[in-house]
Amino acid sequence: MEYEFAPLEGITGPEFRRVHHRFFPGVDRYFTPFLSPTQHHVFPSRELRQVLPEENQGLTVVPQILTKNAGDFLWAAGELAAMGYSEVNLNLGCPSGTVTAKGKGAGFLADLAGLTQFFDEVFEKAPVAVSVKTRLGMVEAEEFEPLLLLFCRYPIARLTVHPRVREDHYKHPVRLEAFDRFLPRCTLPVCFNGGVTAVDQCRRLQARWPKVEAFMIGRGLLADPALIRRLKGGPPAGREELRAFHDALYTGYCRRFQSTKQAVYHMKELWRYLRCLFDGFDPYLRPLRKAADGPAYEAVVSAVFRSCPLRTDALPDW
Ligand SMILES: Cc1cc2nc3c(=O)[nH]c(=O)nc-3n(C[C@H](O)[C@H](O)[C@H](O)COP(=O)(O)O)c2cc1C
Repeated sequence: MEYEFAPLEGITGPEFRRVHHRFFPGVDRYFTPFLSPTQHHVFPSRELRQVLPEENQGLTVVPQILTKNAGDFLWAAGELAAMGYSEVNLNLGCPSGTVTAKGKGAGFLADLAGLTQFFDEVFEKAPVAVSVKTRLGMVEAEEFEPLLLLFCRYPIARLTVHPRVREDHYKHPVRLEAFDRFLPRCTLPVCFNGGVTAVDQCRRLQARWPKVEAFMIGRGLLADPALIRRLKGGPPAGREELRAFHDALYTGYCRRFQSTKQAVYHMKELWRYLRCLFDGFDPYLRPLRKAADGPAYEAVVSAVFRSCPLRTDALPDW
């Protein structure tokens, strides 16, 4: 079984991936948040940093691309191949209104003819393997019927299915029954993604779908950075270890942004999830939200690590 770290825009950038790998090695593949190539065929510096080999040393990284234009996709895939990547991933899941309105991300799922043309060209010319991360459709799960037939006509390296539709965003319960129905008909290597937060729960899903060759985990890994290590038989995160992970990330962000305030802002994004691993976190919610500078933030974090017991499994509240 392989375990992958899902792309999370704004959180799982290069600093995060490096620090996570240093403290909790064992993730088989990290996916970058999506890059959006345009007709100008240059990566803006923010996107370039995501994929520069020196930013990703020692990690296995798959760059993700968000576009509906085969030419732009192939340009990006060519640049990434030249940097040494052997696979790129197509984003067919982003639910954001600004993305779907342009027919990209989950919005592309509504255009079967466009997708067919896109894949015809991409699979004829791609210099690297192409995998796909998809939702079930825009509005209802039945849309996946023709989509799956379409996907299975191409040599997609791995089809990662997040069994929600666009209108579910990230809230609606993951549609496990729909995944049950479609899985037997999928002839591609499959990865499941969505809602995994605990070891036993993941084991039950693995027993339910022996055909699934990989699990991709996002927010569950932000809440419990040791989740993949535990799934591979290793120990849970210890308090000291978690504190060291936190401190290395915070220091890394301070260095990267040259601004403690920016670093605090980014750390708070992580705490939206990490707090779920601590029992009795509630009294610290407000102080954490209000902490506007380094010293205030560091004081709240020290109090949390001093007073809140670690849970065995994170208790998701997202
Ligand atoms: C803040 C945030 C940012 C995300 N950014 C991306 C992204 O860049 N590309 C992508 O394919 N999915 C993105 N996702 C979706 C996740 O990769 C994943 O599919 C989703 O969170 C469900 O998995 P999980 O329940 O394990 O988190 C994002 C989700 C969140 C909450």
